[in-house]
Amino acid sequence: MSSDTIRVGIIGCGMITQRSHAPGFAKVGGVTITALCDPVAENAVKVQKEHAPDARLFSDWRELLKAGLVDAVSVATPVYLHAPMSVAALEAGCHVLCEKPMAMSSAEATGMLAAARQAGKVLQLNLSRRYDPFYQTIAKLIADGRLGELRHIRAIRMHTGAPDQGWSPTGTWFVSKKHGGGIVGDIGVHVGDMMLWYFGAVESISAVTATRRSDIDVEDNATALFRFRSGATGLLELSWTSAVNRMCFEIHGSDGILLGAAPGEGLQILRKQGTPEQIPPTQYLQGVKNSFQCFADAIRGIASSPAPGEVGCAIQVVLDAIRESGRNGGRQVAIAAG
Ligand SMILES: NC(=O)c1ccc[n+]([C@@H]2O[C@H](COP(=O)([O-])OP(=O)(O)OC[C@H]3O[C@@H](n4cnc5c(N)ncnc54)[C@H](O)[C@@H]3O)[C@@H](O)[C@H]2O)c1
Repeated sequence: MSSDTIRVGIIGCGMITQRSHAPGFAKVGGVTITALCDPVAENAVKVQKEHAPDARLFSDWRELLKAGLVDAVSVATPVYLHAPMSVAALEAGCHVLCEKPMAMSSAEATGMLAAARQAGKVLQLNLSRRYDPFYQTIAKLIADGRLGELRHIRAIRMHTGAPDQGWSPTGTWFVSKKHGGGIVGDIGVHVGDMMLWYFGAVESISAVTATRRSDIDVEDNATALFRFRSGATGLLELSWTSAVNRMCFEIHGSDGILLGAAPGEGLQILRKQGTPEQIPPTQYLQGVKNSFQCFADAIRGIASSPAPGEVGCAIQVVLDAIRESGRNGGRQVAIAAG
């Protein structure tokens, strides 16, 4: 192993690690997965066999941090563990890639950011849209002024089930409050992060939340109204109890409306006159780096991360506000200027 190889430990070997983190890190040049941790041994063994044959296995993440085998860790565990694991890793001198949502609350997220600054280490969030050519292309269209002044965004993400009913059948924590579950943190973080990315800081939030499933103690539906500091408005609609899956958004500007659905599909811009402009996937930005390459580049000082701890903290404040407003019958929650 060359001396500038980045040695990565992955904490949590569940679905996202099996599908994304382990294969993702395995493909980044100059990065080696040297340690894997999961109390469910079969999950760690599966990842070791498929992606990291030389990694040492741990059942206790504190032992992994003590072993001196890693320069960086990827925290891919249930949400209630993100802050304690990330802070301990940063204090142990490791860079951290933390899964979304960053934490249980903005207080925890702020503590993580402080720990990263204190340690002088990279803290990156795996806010997937930031590393996706589809969403990067929209950001560029907006930055290039193709929609004019932004006025409104409407984003819908409706699912027929929660993650424990599809994505990760053993992941009951996704629908458990004490473990950090709920649709606001799980999906709201992605869509909300996109809204902040394109529209900037939020001034206030009003939201209604609902729990339709009878066997869970978290919200599985949420609708939130955003007022941005720019004066623009937004509407975020989320469900885990929809009859069919539906994902789409509209971005309204003074010069046109951008319509989109999901990565892999085209974009359309409606204008006052003329036929709508079609932007096929072949015209999306090329060379957008995935999260794992971005993390390695940030550690090496080649490029700053598209989703550093500051970005994670900003969306965490909004998630807290959605939940608070939902608990209080939709009462408007003001967000302090950051
Ligand atoms: N970025 C994305 O698009 C995306 C998609 C899915 C999940 N996620 C996030 O990834 C994280 C993990 O989600 P998942 O789908 O893999 O869930 P999962 O339930 O499939 O896996 C979680 C894993 O963490 C392990 N774990 C639990 N306690 C642990 C501990 N103390 N130490 C080490 N491992 C422990 C579990 O045994 C399990 O293997 C969550 O934060 C989730 O929100 C992100």
